[in-house]
Amino acid sequence: MEKHRIIFFDTTLRDGEQAPGCGMGVYDKLRMAHQLDALGADVIEAGFPMASEDDFRAVSLVAAEIMRPVIAGLARASEPDIRRAWAALDCARHPRIHVFLASSDLHLQCKLKISREQALEQASRAVAYARSLCDDVEFSPEDATRSDPDFLCRLVQAAVDAGATTINIPDTVGYSIPDEFAATIRSIRERVRSIENVIISVHCHNDLGLAVANTIAALHAGARQVECTINGIGERAGNASLEEISMILSVRQAQLPFESGINTQQIYPASCLLSQIIGFTPQPNKAIVGRNAFAHEAGIHQHGVIANPLCYEIMTPESVGVPGNRLVLGKHSGRHALSKRLAELGFTPSGSELDSVYARFMKLAENKKNIYDQDLLSLVSLPAHQQAAIHATT
Ligand code: KIV
Ligand code: ZN
Repeated sequence: MEKHRIIFFDTTLRDGEQAPGCGMGVYDKLRMAHQLDALGADVIEAGFPMASEDDFRAVSLVAAEIMRPVIAGLARASEPDIRRAWAALDCARHPRIHVFLASSDLHLQCKLKISREQALEQASRAVAYARSLCDDVEFSPEDATRSDPDFLCRLVQAAVDAGATTINIPDTVGYSIPDEFAATIRSIRERVRSIENVIISVHCHNDLGLAVANTIAALHAGARQVECTINGIGERAGNASLEEISMILSVRQAQLPFESGINTQQIYPASCLLSQIIGFTPQPNKAIVGRNAFAHEAGIHQHGVIANPLCYEIMTPESVGVPGNRLVLGKHSGRHALSKRLAELGFTPSGSELDSVYARFMKLAENKKNIYDQDLLSLVSLPAHQQAAIHATT
């Protein structure tokens, strides 16, 4: 079976960061970007430089330090935004300017107050300007899935003619369903001239819980770049989750004609680092990285897993970087076990830091029988007042 290499475009630091409660500091973004590099992300969207001074600094810092992946900065379809994005990408070895402009009548009329003709002209001008600065330009027609299909094709055509190298089709409000989304991708491939010279990307939101299903459907229809985030964070119900897409490609590789450069063993460390930075973890039943993703409590399941893990596990915890050693931590655990577990999660607090984490750990263990990885992350990351709140409720 011929395998198509899928480009993983991670937008944890941009779309992910836009979600309520997911704000990240400049240096936290840099730490996260190093982890995304280790994970094998092909493109890291580091921010929206025009949005704030901090976003600009974050994109600049990531661009200056992270050399292997493409580093993207987001810009509205306007010269000042594009100039700002380009300035932030100044030190990038592989820069990309990502330009977006709405394509649905709803957005054009109510939000931007421009006509379709004006949108065509604005997109064309913006993409051409971005291309005059940078060889790698992505264009996104925002709210593509609620746009008139003919107009969507005309707008994409204008962007391709102006020099876009990637066309990203966002399901901005998570409205589409898999067959329909795949048909949209096919129709763009059939109707837009020279589309075979550009990469088609998809960017799915999870409002109906279909972000990953829509993404996979789009790959079958010819998309070759997926936009996604760690733990699926992002606006409202989030974006397609990187760990789910990459593990679908990995677990079902015999059935799927796709491959990626993701080092799946770095998934759990990436998830933990993000949780530590933003101060909350994915829901317990979250696929791949949730606390219960590899947990078995029912006796019949425990028996099956002991007999052969394949009875109830379609992938090993180790394959996604979940430490194999399942030591249960509780009030009888010592500093050594705590520090070993923290190291497995990627944290190596020094002597006095470890003392204070251990003291907090013991306090938590007085009220909570089992201490999970996610509890440990809260101990190493949360400010004191939030830790106190957790202790009060557990
Ligand atoms: O959801 C969306 O439409 C976006 C675009 C900026 C790509 O995030
Ligand atoms: Zn988005």
